[in-house]
Amino acid sequence: MSIQTPEKSAAPAGVWSALKELPSNVWSSVFRNPVPSTDLERASTSFTNFFLHIHPVKVNRNTLRPGYTLGLGLISLFLFFILVATGILLMFYYVPSTNQAYDRMLDLRGTVAFGIFLRNMHRWSAHGMVAMVFLHMCRVFLTGSYKKPREFNWVIGVLLLLVTLFLSFTGYLLPWDQLAFWAITVGTSIAGYAPLIGKQMQFVLLGDTTVGQEALLRFYVLHVAVLPAVLVTLVGVHFWRIRKDGGLSRPEEAPKLKAAPVVVKTRIYGLQGFVRGPFTKVGNTPEDSVFSWPNLLMAELFVFVLTVSLILVVSLMFNAPLEQPVNVMHPPNPAKAPWYFLGLQEMVSYSAFWGGIGIPGIMVALLLVVPYIDRGTQGVGRWFARERLLANTLFLTLVTLNIIFIIIGTFFRGPNWSFVSPF
Ligand code: HEM
Repeated sequence: MSIQTPEKSAAPAGVWSALKELPSNVWSSVFRNPVPSTDLERASTSFTNFFLHIHPVKVNRNTLRPGYTLGLGLISLFLFFILVATGILLMFYYVPSTNQAYDRMLDLRGTVAFGIFLRNMHRWSAHGMVAMVFLHMCRVFLTGSYKKPREFNWVIGVLLLLVTLFLSFTGYLLPWDQLAFWAITVGTSIAGYAPLIGKQMQFVLLGDTTVGQEALLRFYVLHVAVLPAVLVTLVGVHFWRIRKDGGLSRPEEAPKLKAAPVVVKTRIYGLQGFVRGPFTKVGNTPEDSVFSWPNLLMAELFVFVLTVSLILVVSLMFNAPLEQPVNVMHPPNPAKAPWYFLGLQEMVSYSAFWGGIGIPGIMVALLLVVPYIDRGTQGVGRWFARERLLANTLFLTLVTLNIIFIIIGTFFRGPNWSFVSPF
């Protein structure tokens, strides 16, 4: 009679229990923590989850006030996500060839399942992103959030704005219809007004003296590979800097803390506590903070759902424009640049150099240096602070001028750029 050894009988039982525990073991190998219910678990979840560790464990309450950030940075980010997702799907159909590009657009409209919807989502998200990034910059300025220690992150932001504009501009050419062709012809001729290197710059951009196959290919590569990679890298640095600069800006002392400020004087967070300099906020952090899980995450989820829903609704209601195929012999009159460059085009109609290069160059230079010139520390973290009256008034004047020029260029210009009434 053979006697079974304990090992032999344990083996099937071990496999059985391993199978029974398989789902929970797989789950816990991916997610180290259960859904957090204690403060320790909330902190641990933020640390150990790849997607969550970009957040600090706790955030200041001011960060979560919807009226402070208006969620504009997040909306810009989520629009970029939608652009990447829809853009990749569009790449399965699109061919960057002057012979095929327009036909592919027609296919998307007529034969490809959800093709037109996909194109609408991509187009409206792109316009939305340009507008939201611009508005986000305005919010950061008007709350004085570019000041020390956030100067460099502001500079990264200015680069992000330029890359966003260029991303949208390069995408404009791809449908290869009349609108695309002439908008890019006008847009790139503005670059040609730069002194000394203008014509060379235009040639490098177009790969030729006119907009044609070479330009289409260059714009395509810039649009689907180079610029998204640059944007992702800059956004990474942008977010990393937000953490290193001590989270979002906030008033020096929140009003309700004035009565009984609880300021941690001696707390040291591990090694970071020994680091000196502007990066560590240890020792002067008011304890008016809440856990990122679930407070910040819920706010982010809300903004995400709102952004996606809005884009879905707009894409269901309005179709992205597609005009006649390119006809190089018949320019529309007037040929207009994309709306965000129409302010420039309007200025170019007064002076090619100053409108196309001089003034925009000075504006970008001013934006880049503003945090290094405006060194006052007052009025940070509040909208329209009295202490920042001069800076905010100057900024708003320039923004308003730009918007007025865009409105004139869009609605009040007709054949030969003459003044027309839209009414
Ligand atoms: C692709 C473009 C951009 C994305 C995705 C982005 C994203 C964000 C996000 C999510 C925040 C956190 C708070 C918020 O939503 O306001 C933020 C903060 C910030 N952003 Fe941006 N941003 C972009 C462009 C810009 C631009 C154009 C500027 C300025 C020229 C800028 C300057 C800043 C600064 C200084 C902060 C910190 C603000 C504070 O501490 O209150 N960003 N950004």
